Amino acid sequence: MIVATPEDMAALGALLATRLQAGDLVALNGELGAGKTTLTRGLGEALGVRGAVTSPTFVLARTHPRTDGPPLVHVDAYRLSTAAELDDLDIDFAASVVVVEWGEGLLDGITDAWLQLDIVRPVGGVVTDDGIEAREIEVSGHGDRWADLAWLRPLVE
Ligand SMILES: Nc1ncnc2c1ncn2[C@@H]1O[C@H](COP(=O)(O)OP(=O)(O)OP(=O)(O)O)[C@@H](O)[C@H]1O
Ligand SMILES: [Mg+2]
Repeated sequence: MIVATPEDMAALGALLATRLQAGDLVALNGELGAGKTTLTRGLGEALGVRGAVTSPTFVLARTHPRTDGPPLVHVDAYRLSTAAELDDLDIDFAASVVVVEWGEGLLDGITDAWLQLDIVRPVGGVVTDDGIEAREIEVSGHGDRWADLAWLRPLVE
C-alpha cells in the first residue's frame, strides 16, 4: 500500500486502532524516519490515550493509559538486540495494546501473533519542499489472530 503523506500515515494508525484489543501486538519496521512514530501517534490518538505519543527512544517503552480500555504500550526496540532484552521490560502484553518500533527479529519467542508493517521509502521517490514523500507499506499477519487481513483491503487496493 502507498501512504502519500504523514497525515495519511496517522490515519492508517487510526484505522488499525479500531481493530486493536488487549493482547494485540503491532510491529513497525522501517529505517530511521520511515514514519513508525507518525503512525503510532495516529493510532494513540484514535485510542484516546492520555499523553502525547512521541518517540520513546530514551525510555525504551512508554505506557499510555486510557480511561476506557487497555493501555497502549509504545516500545522503541532500536537499542535492544535480543528477545530476552525485550522480555526484560516486563510488558504486560496480555493486558495491553503493544506497538513495537524496530522489533524485527525480536518477537519470535515472545509472542506467536503480531501484525507487522514494513515501511520503506521507495527508491527515486519525490520529496516535496515540506519533506513529504510517499511511503510504501507491506502488511503481514503472523499467527491466527492476524490470518484474515480482509479488513485492511480497502486501503491496500
Ligand atoms: N508519507 C509519509 N509518511 C510518514 N511520514 C512522512 C511521510 N512523508 C514525510 N514524512 C516525515 O517523515 C518523518 C517520519 O518520522 P517518524 O518519527 O514518524 O519516523 P520513525 O520511523 O519513527 O523514525 P525513528 O526510526 O527515528 O523512530 C516525519 O517528519 C514525517 O513528517
Ligand atoms: Mg520512531
